[in-house]
Amino acid sequence: MTSLIPTLGGGYYTDPAIFAAEQEKIFERQWFCAVRSADLPSAGDFRTVRVGRESVLVSRGRDGGLRAFLNVCRHRGARLCTEESGTVKRAFQCPYHAWTYGLDGKLIAAPNLANLPDIDRSEYGLHTVRLREWLGYAWVCLAADPPSFDADVEGAVRERLGDLESIERYGLDRLSVGRRITYDVKANWKLIVENFMECYHCATIHPELTEVLPEFADGYAAQYYVGHGAEFGEAVDGFTIDGTTGFDRLDGVADEQDRRYYAITIRPQVFVNLVPDHVIFHRMYPLAPDRTVVECDWLYSEEVVASGRDVSRSVELFHRVNEQDFDACERCQPAMASRAYRGGGVLMPSEHHIGEFHSWLLTRLEDETR
Ligand code: FES
Ligand SMILES: [Fe+2]
Repeated sequence: MTSLIPTLGGGYYTDPAIFAAEQEKIFERQWFCAVRSADLPSAGDFRTVRVGRESVLVSRGRDGGLRAFLNVCRHRGARLCTEESGTVKRAFQCPYHAWTYGLDGKLIAAPNLANLPDIDRSEYGLHTVRLREWLGYAWVCLAADPPSFDADVEGAVRERLGDLESIERYGLDRLSVGRRITYDVKANWKLIVENFMECYHCATIHPELTEVLPEFADGYAAQYYVGHGAEFGEAVDGFTIDGTTGFDRLDGVADEQDRRYYAITIRPQVFVNLVPDHVIFHRMYPLAPDRTVVECDWLYSEEVVASGRDVSRSVELFHRVNEQDFDACERCQPAMASRAYRGGGVLMPSEHHIGEFHSWLLTRLEDETR
C-alpha cells in the first residue's frame, strides 16, 4: 500500500484506437464548447469546427439565433463549407451541384429538383446539431439524446465554485475578446487537462504566476477546494505579468472574489480562469493522439476593449503560463510511447482529482451503451 496513485498507461496518450474511441464516446457525446457567440455577430456569419470526427457548421440565422449543422451536403456528401469562417448572403450553396440551404438548414433550391414532384424538400435539409449558449459561447452536442447540460456543464462550475451565481457575477456573455491566441500543442488532450488540474508543477515552471499567487508555490493548490480562489500576493496590484495594476473590477464581481484567482475545468475540453478584471477562457480541439489545438480568449469589459486600452500586460501573464504548460505537456508526449511508461506513472496524493478524471474517462470508454 502506497500513498501514490497510479495513472493511465502510456498507450492512452498514443494509441490511435483509444483516440478514436474518445472521439466517438466523449467528444461526439458530451457538450462541446464550439465558438464564441460574438464571433458570429450578423445573419449569415458562420464558423466550421471539428467536433470529434465531424465537421460542424455553426451559423447565425436571419432571426438572430445561432444554429449548428453537420457540414455535409445531403446530395452526395460534399463538404458544404471548407472555410474556417466567413459570411454568406442568404444561403449555403454546395460547390459541387449547387444544392442550396437556407440559414435555418432547410433545402431551398436544387437544380432540376422542381421537376421531381414526388420529392419532399423538407426531408433533405442539413442535419441539425443541438446548440446551447452559455457564458457567451455556443456549446454543441452531436448526441441524439444529449446528456444534461445542467449536470455536466453547469454542474462542473457548481462543483468547483459552490454555485452558479459566482461565475455569473463576471458576466462572461457581456465581455469582449481583448486577445485570442491559438496554440498548436503537440500533446494529447488529456496531458493538457491533467496539467491544468494540478499546481504541483507551479513552483517549478511558473515563476511569474507564483509571484502573483504565492500560495501556488507550495505545490498543494488545486481545484478541489470548493469555492476557494487563490489570493493575490500582498504586494500585487493586479493579475499582470509584473503584478502592476490591471483594470477596474468587472461589474458584479463580489468583494470576496476581489484579488482572487479561480480555475475551473469543464470536462472534456474547457478551462475557465476568473480574475477580478478579466476572464481567460480555453477551448481545446483534439485533432490527433499527439496534437491538440487550444484556442484561448482573454475577455475584458466592453469598455476596456472599445477604448483600445493596452491589455498586453495581463495577456502576457497567462500567455506565458500557457507556453510553460504546453512545453511541459510536449515534454511528456514523446515519452508516453516509451517502454518505461507502458504501465503509467504515479500521482501525488494532492493530485488525486486527476485520478478521478481518469475514472471518468475510463467509465465513458468502457460503457458500450453510451
Ligand atoms: S454533393 Fe452537394 S450538391 Fe451534390
Ligand atoms: Fe500550469
